[in-house]
Amino acid sequence: MVKISINDIRDMKQKKEKIPMLTAYDYITAKIIDEACVPLILVGDSLGMVMLGYETTLPVTMEEMLHHTKAVARGVRKALIVGDMPFMSYHTSVSDALRNAGRFIQEGGAQAVKLEGGEIVAEKVQRIVECGIPVMGHIGLTPQSIYQLGGFKVQGKKPEAAKKLLQDAQILEQAGAFSIVLECIPAPLSRLITRKVNIPTIGIGAGPDCDGQVQVISDILGLFTDFVPKHAKRYAGLAEEMQSAIGDYMAEVKSSSFPTLKESYTMDESLLEGLDFTTPS
Ligand code: KIV
Repeated sequence: MVKISINDIRDMKQKKEKIPMLTAYDYITAKIIDEACVPLILVGDSLGMVMLGYETTLPVTMEEMLHHTKAVARGVRKALIVGDMPFMSYHTSVSDALRNAGRFIQEGGAQAVKLEGGEIVAEKVQRIVECGIPVMGHIGLTPQSIYQLGGFKVQGKKPEAAKKLLQDAQILEQAGAFSIVLECIPAPLSRLITRKVNIPTIGIGAGPDCDGQVQVISDILGLFTDFVPKHAKRYAGLAEEMQSAIGDYMAEVKSSSFPTLKESYTMDESLLEGLDFTTPS
């Protein structure tokens, strides 16, 4: 099976073919997403909230990210896997950024990494790309900076902020990023950015005109119900399905209607006859 490459992703923009992307954090979900032919899988640091129960993405560590990236990589044959660099894994220095980006490839089995920020991370993006590691940018609402941004808020609504986001996108393209996530920015601004850069834009809460869309898998499956962002659409109600299945299981165990002989193993009962069942001393 031939892996999707960053060239395939770039070509999709040129061919005006929309690019679907989903997050995955474990083997079985990654396998299902890959079998559905989704070309891009992000092992997002959103796993901190939807898998590990943290309130933000800030506590997520490199070790946690690698643990989940490895599980995803074991389930994926075709999709390009992007590992999300967690808070403080690339902020401290270029060499930390290089080392941690390398760990996603060498240890995690990812084919690319994602960093949050525009101009501020441009040098790191350039150096990581020079080392042969594809980089996906991420601008707009960057959850690793929520304390600086003052919360989970739409970005780029004022002219100066919009101009800065456009500049950041162009700087990331110049630095060598192969695509950019645009998170929670007004649709007209993402349309403009998408037209002004040659690399694909992947939107989340950024309107319909981005080259692709990314969603958190547990949001679209209706599995994570603590907080549902406005930009998420539920395509299934797995939390309710699971509650109902678990309820049925409990009821059947309590009433002794599970397991039946169908779910049990048999043997020749005569073999038990004459066995000594006294407790060994
Ligand atoms: O961590 C994540 O899932 C992300 C997406 C929301 C883009 O960064």
